[in-house]
Amino acid sequence: MQKNPNREQLYASYDWYRQMRETQPVFFDPNMQAWHIFRYDDVARVLNDHATFSSEQNRFVPAEYRDSNPINSSILRMDPPRHRQLRNLVSQAFTPRMVAQMESRIKEITSGLLDQVQALGEMDVMRDLAAPLPVTVIAELLGVPTERREDFKQWSDAFISGDGEATEEAMQAGKQAVDNLVGYFTQIFEERRAHPQNDLVSALLTAEVDGERLSNEELIGFCVLLLVAGNETTTNLIGNTILCLDENPGAVERLRANRDLVPNALEEALRYYSPVKLTVRWAVTETTFGDHRIEAGQLLFVWIASADRDEAQFPNADQFTIEREPNRHLGFGRGVHFCLGAPLARLEAKIALNAMLDRLPGSWQVPDVPLSPIKNMSTFGVKQLPLTWEK
Ligand code: HEM
Repeated sequence: MQKNPNREQLYASYDWYRQMRETQPVFFDPNMQAWHIFRYDDVARVLNDHATFSSEQNRFVPAEYRDSNPINSSILRMDPPRHRQLRNLVSQAFTPRMVAQMESRIKEITSGLLDQVQALGEMDVMRDLAAPLPVTVIAELLGVPTERREDFKQWSDAFISGDGEATEEAMQAGKQAVDNLVGYFTQIFEERRAHPQNDLVSALLTAEVDGERLSNEELIGFCVLLLVAGNETTTNLIGNTILCLDENPGAVERLRANRDLVPNALEEALRYYSPVKLTVRWAVTETTFGDHRIEAGQLLFVWIASADRDEAQFPNADQFTIEREPNRHLGFGRGVHFCLGAPLARLEAKIALNAMLDRLPGSWQVPDVPLSPIKNMSTFGVKQLPLTWEK
């Protein structure tokens, strides 16, 4: 692939990962007071070993330095055995079967979004499809009534950008959005307790493991987690896939000719431009990586995006290869915290890409304009992604 100056800013981090994998694969950063882990085997080891590497920041970070993000008290930031109990509980409600039942609705939503742009011959992939699709799907899964959809979308957007951009204004908007979401979910829970329906919230309210149910706080935490963990990530998977296809001439035609390759292309996009670049862990006990000694309580930045380009694991790692097999990427994590929403994300992205292939004919072009990365340490994606096709 030739380097495109309009995309340099976007890809700079990949040059850094390569350099770090080669020269300092386990690196202590004195400014952040944290370790950075870059190679596939080391990243997989950290994710697999929850006994040594904890997800629970509350165990290690003094109260005054913790942020108030409800995600920090969700299963994502919990260790076993509590994590196992709660994950079993929510898994009873958020099942692959429930996700599969959404298929026809996801198709309708996607189709409705493409109706708005098909005749124009151009769209912004992020604005017109990749962003609205997952938030609409999650709103339906959570049983948000149509008349509240706009509010719900605004709050979830504000919460997510508050989490991401880290400007004072965005943080304030994010906090306000959390209050609105908490108030809103509390009301929905009351309604569903009185009148259960065939939706995820009703299922969450009645899910039971060993006679235990989710508390109100845990219910809210989980619903907010679904919003945060499931929206921007899926949005970026769709956008990043289009970027990969754009960078590989002929790939769109190959997919059109053989739709069985669509799921492989999505897995390869998850590897090549992982929407989640990194996750964090804390060392519970002292441990070593080669000559490096990690002290108990130290923070680790675990670079999924770097692991997924490690030549030691993936031959021609810097090449996007639709047919890549095996492809044991870490885009959805590994171990006990493996992404609970992976079946939903895969289904949404498959439907979106197939619908685009069906309805946007001819060759696709991303105009050669600067593409701005999302400014967030843990997310890889672009803010806008213009695309044209033959009308
Ligand atoms: C392409 C889209 C997605 C990507 C790349 C992604 C990635 C990830 C990753 C890397 C983790 C593990 C984090 C860690 O170990 O610290 C994770 C966990 C999680 N994801 Fe996803 N995710 C995606 C979509 C979704 C969706 C659609 C949902 C739900 C609607 C979801 C819900 C969750 C939840 C609940 C967890 C926490 C699981 C646990 O801690 O046991 N994700 N995701």
